[in-house]
Amino acid sequence: MTPTRHDRLTIGELAARSGLATSALRYYEELGLIHAERTAGGQRRYQRQMLRRVAFVRAAQRVGLSLEEVRDTLGRLPADRSPNAAEWSAVATTWQARIDRQIAELFTLREHLTGCIGCGCLSQGSCALYNPRDVLGADGPGARKLLPPAPDRP
Ligand code: FES
Repeated sequence: MTPTRHDRLTIGELAARSGLATSALRYYEELGLIHAERTAGGQRRYQRQMLRRVAFVRAAQRVGLSLEEVRDTLGRLPADRSPNAAEWSAVATTWQARIDRQIAELFTLREHLTGCIGCGCLSQGSCALYNPRDVLGADGPGARKLLPPAPDRP
């Protein structure tokens, strides 16, 4: 069946339906998260399935995925048609481990934050709020976060 004009959304329509700014949609397109066809006049036209992709991107970001991770995930879905429920479900289940890890980290953070309430020191060495599990220590001693790496000199 040949797609009709009404099977495609303009960028304004996609923005209105998705709740995103047109600039964000253009950025998503630049990253390869969504795709548009072009009219003879060069205007973008989006398949309706892009609404679901945009919703997926936003949900993935809420889970904590970077846009690069989202792009990799979307790359496992068919590009030429709307994914079926099983395909969406298979992709979404890959988030389960990440969500579980985030929940565990939040519980740990909550337990360690008691000392931070009313403190405000943001100590690199002992503050669970500023440097949870001393992740900055892996970069080496000193104020690693404040100093840019030394430039290579010939
Ligand atoms: S703010 Fe002082 S220990 Fe976190």
